[in-house]
Amino acid sequence: MGRKPQSVDHVIAGLRAQHYLADSALATAVFLSIALERPLFVEGEPGVGKTALAQAVAQMLDVPLIRLQCYEGIDRESALYEWNYPRQLLHIRIRELDGDDRDTLEQSLYHEDFLLKRPLYAAIRPNGPAPVLLIDEIDRSDDEFEAFLLEVLSEFQISIPELGTIQAVERPIVILTSNRTRDVHDALKRRCLYQWLDYPTYEREMAILRERMPQLNPRLSEHIVRYVQCLRTKTLQKPPGLAETLDWASALEVLGVETLSAEAVERTLGCVLKYREDMGQADHQAVTTILQEIAHG
Ligand SMILES: Nc1ncnc2c1ncn2[C@@H]1O[C@H](COP(=O)(O)OP(=O)(O)O)[C@@H](O)[C@H]1O
Ligand SMILES: [Mg+2]
Repeated sequence: MGRKPQSVDHVIAGLRAQHYLADSALATAVFLSIALERPLFVEGEPGVGKTALAQAVAQMLDVPLIRLQCYEGIDRESALYEWNYPRQLLHIRIRELDGDDRDTLEQSLYHEDFLLKRPLYAAIRPNGPAPVLLIDEIDRSDDEFEAFLLEVLSEFQISIPELGTIQAVERPIVILTSNRTRDVHDALKRRCLYQWLDYPTYEREMAILRERMPQLNPRLSEHIVRYVQCLRTKTLQKPPGLAETLDWASALEVLGVETLSAEAVERTLGCVLKYREDMGQADHQAVTTILQEIAHG
């Protein structure tokens, strides 16, 4: 691994160099997770910067990012390793031609070369420096998989019946994320440092937009952020995250919009609101009201 950050301020600066703006609470959590070698569990609404955090941490440390994307039905084989049967079969065919006997043949089959290494394996036994392991959207997996993860994160070792136990030489830095579609078990949380990631404040969101899209006219940026912040105070099926703010800004830029008029908002609000139930906020009356609010606020 590259040099570990020496302080919380180093983390803030290091992430900033990757265009990721972290407040001191988040930077402290990252710092402690690295210093104490404890997994970091980051929970928050979609689009608040959880996945991007792991990417930025890996870049900051100059180590690879290994991502395990969780989904419904994910199992240990797809997370850890599988035997590469087609390759083993081919190997048998070739060795049979050489006239190898059965025992030699069988022994030669269970070799690391015949493993399909999935993300957890790759993170515990990397080819290079210890990576950042991102276990993304763990709330999508089920209880059984969670229990298995707990085991992996306690031991950082893999036992392969045919080969024996493989231990991590250096522990990866682990970041788990959840969109909180369900609660993750206490046992797993207890293993980790916990950080809730909220929607950004106006100041932070402005800073992020300026950081990501410095070319955008500052007044337009300001209006975009005020508008999104205002939308988040409404009752919505899915309030917009930072991802939506950035998408919207890109769309307005591409369309050559210079000031946020009602017409411009109505044309582009599909970048921000993604649920039919929320489209009430996209009609002319609602848009005009918000534009008036932000003009006076
Ligand atoms: N603190 C931040 N600084 C800079 N960019 C950010 C920050 N938080 C989020 N972003 C940007 O917002 C977008 C959405 O973030 P993402 O990590 O995908 O959200 P999540 O994983 O929480 O759903 C990404 O383009 C990301 O780069
Ligand atoms: Mg994500």
